[in-house]
Amino acid sequence: MAKRVEATGVTAYYGSFKAIDNINLHVDPKTVTALIGPSGCGKSTFLRSINRMHEVLPGARVEGKLT
Ligand SMILES: Nc1ncnc2c1ncn2[C@@H]1O[C@H](COP(=O)(O)OP(=O)(O)OP(=O)(O)O)[C@@H](O)[C@H]1O
Ligand SMILES: [Mg+2]
Repeated sequence: MAKRVEATGVTAYYGSFKAIDNINLHVDPKTVTALIGPSGCGKSTFLRSINRMHEVLPGARVEGKLT
């Protein structure tokens, strides 16, 4: 089966600071999805969570399910 993204209840913290809260996103195979929003709303944090790069930051953690 083709790859796609399924984010369920994704919440990410920098220390005690909650940067994104309960994000749900489904991306179908062979589709394009854009993340838009004002500076600081958490776009990069969410992308880093999908890529498993957020959890390698000291003090940072991710809750929820990402497949
Ligand atoms: N390394 C970090 N340590 C602590 N807080 C951070 C860190 N990186 C981002 N933040 C905070 O997390 C929140 C989300 O930031 P993020 O960089 O994900 O936003 P963004 O939507 O990508 O913004 P931009 O459009 O400016 O790229 C902001 O409040 C930001 O200050
Ligand atoms: Mg960014």
